[in-house]
Amino acid sequence: MSNVISVPAEIRTGENRVALVPEIAKKLIAAGTTIQVQTLAGEHAGFSDEDYTAAGASICPDDSLLGTADVVLTVNPLTETQLQKLRDGSILIGYQNPWSDTQRFKLLQDKKISAISMELIPRISRAQAMDSLSSQASIAGYKSVLMAASLSGKFFPMLTTAAGTVRPSKVLVIGAGVAGLQAIATARRLGAMVEAYDVRAAVKEQVESLGARFVDIDIKAEGSGGYARELTEEEKQKQQEILARHVAASDVVICTAALPGRASPRIIPTDMVNNMKGGAVIVDLAAEGGGNCELTRPGETVMHNRVTIYGPINVPSTVPNHASELYAKNLFNLLGLIIKEDSLQIDLDDQILKDSLITHAGDIINDAVQERLQASTN
Ligand code: NAI
Repeated sequence: MSNVISVPAEIRTGENRVALVPEIAKKLIAAGTTIQVQTLAGEHAGFSDEDYTAAGASICPDDSLLGTADVVLTVNPLTETQLQKLRDGSILIGYQNPWSDTQRFKLLQDKKISAISMELIPRISRAQAMDSLSSQASIAGYKSVLMAASLSGKFFPMLTTAAGTVRPSKVLVIGAGVAGLQAIATARRLGAMVEAYDVRAAVKEQVESLGARFVDIDIKAEGSGGYARELTEEEKQKQQEILARHVAASDVVICTAALPGRASPRIIPTDMVNNMKGGAVIVDLAAEGGGNCELTRPGETVMHNRVTIYGPINVPSTVPNHASELYAKNLFNLLGLIIKEDSLQIDLDDQILKDSLITHAGDIINDAVQERLQASTN
């Protein structure tokens, strides 16, 4: 009997992505698995039911496919009603939002589900091809620049026309991680003059290799696991003094500084926005965590003193075809650790699986989730 992998349709409002694309479904079928996809699951990402059928998958009219699967692949966390439908002892892979609503994991524990959280894939080189935070951040970085360009009243490139010369836009990218580096590259391709800033001094070279100028504030805040640590009050003040000049001179500011599971650091207070030029634009990719700009409202466009502040949410979903393709490839690479010929095996000695599992075989594997569950029952 081959292993059954199910892909439900995403039900989060505004979600256009799907966890599996036909090309990857075909590869999994070639590897000996059976694939079931809920009808219209790929519709918003550009994949029809017929595309999945042509790849060898079967189409299920409703979410009953949750109860007949050995492995369920999702983008967003399943709702409690959906979780109830999972077969006991099956494997669930997707974003699980491990930082909130911890009671869901009690249910997964009781059902002996092996729940793998895509947010917790460790940042080690062997896991790079499975890291969906990176693949999706890269898409968000690219799209943030297109959003800024369409909100801005200026050209990005320098233009020499019969009516005169237009100066290039000045773009400042705050946070030069995966999203920030892609934003820099995209803004450069559009011809803007780009500056970037990050608290991790190690990124200076990467920023410069993309043709942007690094704003050096001499704060080294490398934390653990590739993440930045939080700044001290003194460091924050120093950062603000220097950044204020750069923000004031920019036509566009792209904010990408996020700390997963925690509130986004406040980097642009209202005072700084007050000193920006009329017509300037801020696109705040950290909006979901509250925003890097004090004036950001998640999902909204705010006008303040002729400055536009946009806080988009779920940006990868606005590029759903490629976002789904890359996400599905991340899942395929991760499944390579689990699918062993005819059986499915979760090896707790594998760091990637150990770090990303929240529940397994009736246990809560993730210490942070366990602590929160205990705190909520005390
Ligand atoms: P992220 O989403 O955690 O943060 C975005 C950026 O904001 C980071 O560069 C961070 O340093 C910066 N930041 C945080 N607080 C800030 C503040 N107060 N002011 C200014 N900047 C601030 O990071 P992301 O993009 O997911 O990854 C960061 C780095 O981690 C990557 O550049 C890469 O080197 C490494 N990484 C390695 C992976 C692997 O080896 N598998 C996978 C993912 C990332």
